[in-house]
Amino acid sequence: MLVTALLLLVTLCALGGHAEKTGDAERPGHVSVVVLGATGDLAKKYLWQGFFQLYVEQVRSGRSFSFYGGGQRTADVATPILFEALKTVSCPKEVSQERCAVLKDQFLRVSQYRQLKTLENYQDLAQHIEQTLKKDNVTEAGRLFYLSVPAFTYADIADKINNSCRPSGGAWFRVVLEKPFGHSLLSAEELASRLGSSLKEEEMYRIDHYLGKQVIAKILPFRMENKEFLDPIWNKHHIERVEVVVKETLDVKGRMSFYDEYGVIRDVIQNHLTEVMMLLTMRPPSNMSNSEEVVQNKLQVLSSLLPLGRNQAVIGQYQEYSSQVQLELNKTKDRRSLTPTFAAVLLRLDDAQYEGVPVLLLSGKMLDERVGYARVLFKNDMFCLQNDNSVHCKPKQIVFYFGHGSLQYPAVLVSKTLFKPVLVDGEWKEVTEHSNVKVFGSPLSDFYVQTPKEQREAYSELISRIYAGEKNSFISVENLLASWSVWTPLLSSLYTEFPRIYPGGEDNVDLLDVQLKGNDIKFKSEVVIIRPDQMGGTSGGGYQAIHGKFCDTDMVSAWTEQLVEKLAADLQEAAEAAVLESGVFHLALSGGSSPLALFHRLAFHHFSFPWRYTHVWMVDERCVSPTQVESNFYLLHNHLLQHVKIPYFNIHPMPVELNRRLCVEEDGGAQMYQELITQLVNGSSFHFVLLGVGYDGHVASLFRGTEVEKHGEQLVALTESPTKPHQRMSLTFTAINHARRVALLVIGKQKHELVTQLSRLKNDKDRYPVTRVSPSPGKSVWYMDYDALLG
Ligand code: BG6
Repeated sequence: MLVTALLLLVTLCALGGHAEKTGDAERPGHVSVVVLGATGDLAKKYLWQGFFQLYVEQVRSGRSFSFYGGGQRTADVATPILFEALKTVSCPKEVSQERCAVLKDQFLRVSQYRQLKTLENYQDLAQHIEQTLKKDNVTEAGRLFYLSVPAFTYADIADKINNSCRPSGGAWFRVVLEKPFGHSLLSAEELASRLGSSLKEEEMYRIDHYLGKQVIAKILPFRMENKEFLDPIWNKHHIERVEVVVKETLDVKGRMSFYDEYGVIRDVIQNHLTEVMMLLTMRPPSNMSNSEEVVQNKLQVLSSLLPLGRNQAVIGQYQEYSSQVQLELNKTKDRRSLTPTFAAVLLRLDDAQYEGVPVLLLSGKMLDERVGYARVLFKNDMFCLQNDNSVHCKPKQIVFYFGHGSLQYPAVLVSKTLFKPVLVDGEWKEVTEHSNVKVFGSPLSDFYVQTPKEQREAYSELISRIYAGEKNSFISVENLLASWSVWTPLLSSLYTEFPRIYPGGEDNVDLLDVQLKGNDIKFKSEVVIIRPDQMGGTSGGGYQAIHGKFCDTDMVSAWTEQLVEKLAADLQEAAEAAVLESGVFHLALSGGSSPLALFHRLAFHHFSFPWRYTHVWMVDERCVSPTQVESNFYLLHNHLLQHVKIPYFNIHPMPVELNRRLCVEEDGGAQMYQELITQLVNGSSFHFVLLGVGYDGHVASLFRGTEVEKHGEQLVALTESPTKPHQRMSLTFTAINHARRVALLVIGKQKHELVTQLSRLKNDKDRYPVTRVSPSPGKSVWYMDYDALLG
């Protein structure tokens, strides 16, 4: 049946469309597409339309397809719902009505619903695909799974697909994932590690639908096409400010269970706006289709971002939000949510090209208009005495207008005071007839305007790129983790911040106007709409740290931010005392995301810290190159070391890479580190060891399965972690328990379960690595935030 349908279409269709671009997609034969969450909102609104468009474009080149809508429900219930959605797809403009009817009919015939719940369901699907291929005597070109389902189900589904649905015989295999990809650096790492055990990185396509928006996809090509004009001005000497703004008018009703956990920074700023910012500031690749180069250049931007302190963001929440949460999530009236629905963040890049240029990222719900744009505003050195309407007095700017707003269509706008951009892309055209529209207060006639000839939905665009195997339009795992490592510390520091309440829509007036002052951002108006003590409910009461005992050991507890302040203050006190006593302070720092907020606090508030006399050691390291974002040293360097005046020779990274290989026993890296400690640290006794505590109770890289007895008197050892990257180098308990002072940092709700377990431990003290921390004659102190302590 497939073959006949295909022949019919080949003769019927003579459509325009995107040609396949890369090798994989060109493999002849059949493609199976499986959409999980097939009857969900996203699939109904965008995905099926995107797949139909792909179908229309590809069948004429000899490709055949099957589409499977998958879901939890049984086929008798879900099939009619799926077909209702499939019937709504529409043809591209150039297809005649008659042809369109045939194409739609064919599309429906090659589509079906499958219940995909158990492993057997997936095995049946795989069998069905094999049988279809055999029956129609076609080879297989590829299989595509689109996971339009909640992220917590990803790992399980990936596992099932991996175990039952991989194609054989060289066909390609791709799995598409939708955000959210985690909630913080730690959760993103966990998700990446779980997915990584079923799928290869090159098989995963993590979607950020903003990268499919035509104007956003145009940013890099535009920069490259206009290199000649941009090279002299795309730098700190000429750029006044960069803005990436997404204003929305809707609220978040109907999505509260997701949104209240995430908020605007995680929902759109960590991903969409950050991606756009990177496209504007990254070094353009020498070849756009070299996805490795694109990833590396983006990573460079992320690693050059200066850490975000609390003063670099302001947050707001629309007035109705809390009552909407109460209603939708069945909460009591005194439950006040602190989730921000508006945020403006000021970024700065530590990079010779953009040093000192403010980069503003801003987004919010319930604002006065729906509009999205990225604007590069240039300095204007003209002084216009009388007629500031003359051309040379007008602002100089380049605007990538995503759509909506006053202009209503996507466009790239270049001030006529700058240059006339070239137009080399046949899919774009110049707009010369200007309506009365104004953009940022200037008439459209002040700009050269380019727009796509045909507007395409972001999802349709991305679906055809997945099909073509164009990985550079998707989020790589390195990028994802690097982005979370930028945003997680800010999110932690805002965790107990009270958002400014705004009424919504036009009534916001200037309440959300922001002012950029040096490195800080502030709301312009000082109006205090609501005070913490008026909020009631959630986190009221006590900003003081409390002191107590936990598992017979001293404990300090407070809200995260105050806890970090206290720990930083204690650290400085210990450093000063050590320097006074012996002229040097030996500090061993752990990796992971728990200490990031502390690093920022130290870097940006403790200017008198005796860094000059401090030696920084590492508690543990992952066996990866120090330039990779997974490396503990990479984080330590980016978030702390590069911002403080510490002599290079006082920094001691763990030698995990020797002889151009990683953590090989014979290379003796652990012994080298041990010798260095013995030589430099008096009695091998660090003054201060900072340990993050994992949710499974591990500290340093000493896990439940680690045979710590074997370490004996060793100070440093190679160990194995249950999560990726598996190989580690770590201080041993011998080294840790020699220290004068050990801080055990426990942060976040997800640690509460562990804390409960620890508090119940009686005789089974060896159950969790953390309980082996017992410095003698030194002492250890728990630093535990209220979330971890009280859940
Ligand atoms: C989504 C967010 O990723 O992007 C939504 O979850 C947001 O909250 C949407 O509204 C914005 O996308 P667009 O394409 O409408 O600008």
